[in-house]
Amino acid sequence: MLRRCLVAANWKMNMTVSQALPLAAQLATLTSGPLAEIAVAPPFVALFPVGQVLRPSGVALAAQNCHALSAGAYTGEVSAPMLADLGCRYVIIGHSERRQLFGESDSFIHEKVKAVLEAGLYPILCVGETLEEREHNQTLEVVSKQLQANLAGISSGLGAKLVIAYEPIWAIGTGKTATAQEAQEVHAHIRGWLQQLWGETSKQLRILYGGSVKASNAEELMAKPDIDGALVGGASLQFAEFSAIIEAAKKAMAHKK
Ligand code: 13P
Repeated sequence: MLRRCLVAANWKMNMTVSQALPLAAQLATLTSGPLAEIAVAPPFVALFPVGQVLRPSGVALAAQNCHALSAGAYTGEVSAPMLADLGCRYVIIGHSERRQLFGESDSFIHEKVKAVLEAGLYPILCVGETLEEREHNQTLEVVSKQLQANLAGISSGLGAKLVIAYEPIWAIGTGKTATAQEAQEVHAHIRGWLQQLWGETSKQLRILYGGSVKASNAEELMAKPDIDGALVGGASLQFAEFSAIIEAAKKAMAHKK
């Protein structure tokens, strides 16, 4: 089955609104086509203005996080229904920076995945191992445990909207990328795991790779059978580099057809 690939920009805590608007205007000139879909995740404060600029284009709006509950006395938090109302399509959940720096537990991430699905949005659930875990050959086990804890009890009907991002922590922001073969091995494992949970639905789910993706390595990564796109951090902050990644994705997808 040919899955339409997804290239998503995660701006993290970068870009003021004034900086974001010119970049958004450039991004709005890109076209999401039948082979590749494009999404952009600005910081919360830039979601509305960036969304306005992107609206006429085919580029989807994504958020970087949300709370597990839909409303209430949770000062400083943002809920999935708020993001849906704003025109978001995707929400990144369980990024390793949230897990490691903000202490987000697997059970909280599980609640968030459910909240995003219930709001009619598409979660981009991030999983991945530390360098130490990789060196101890624990990668597949660690990823399986995260999937189990984050997805248990979710029906295949709802799960059909899930996107997974495999982001080895040692490759994030370090310039070190997993080789295409290393990444493919984990992606195939993730798809196998999802097949146990949801059967045939697993074949239509997109599994993105993230961790130092750039124009020079994107095509080789996305040419692999189970790598269905990329979640791009640093390289998504420059228009030329990000648009070259999208071109690379389209090329890789054209060969997969
Ligand atoms: P970099 O592309 O900067 O390594 O970040 C990857 C990432 O964390 C995307 O979510």
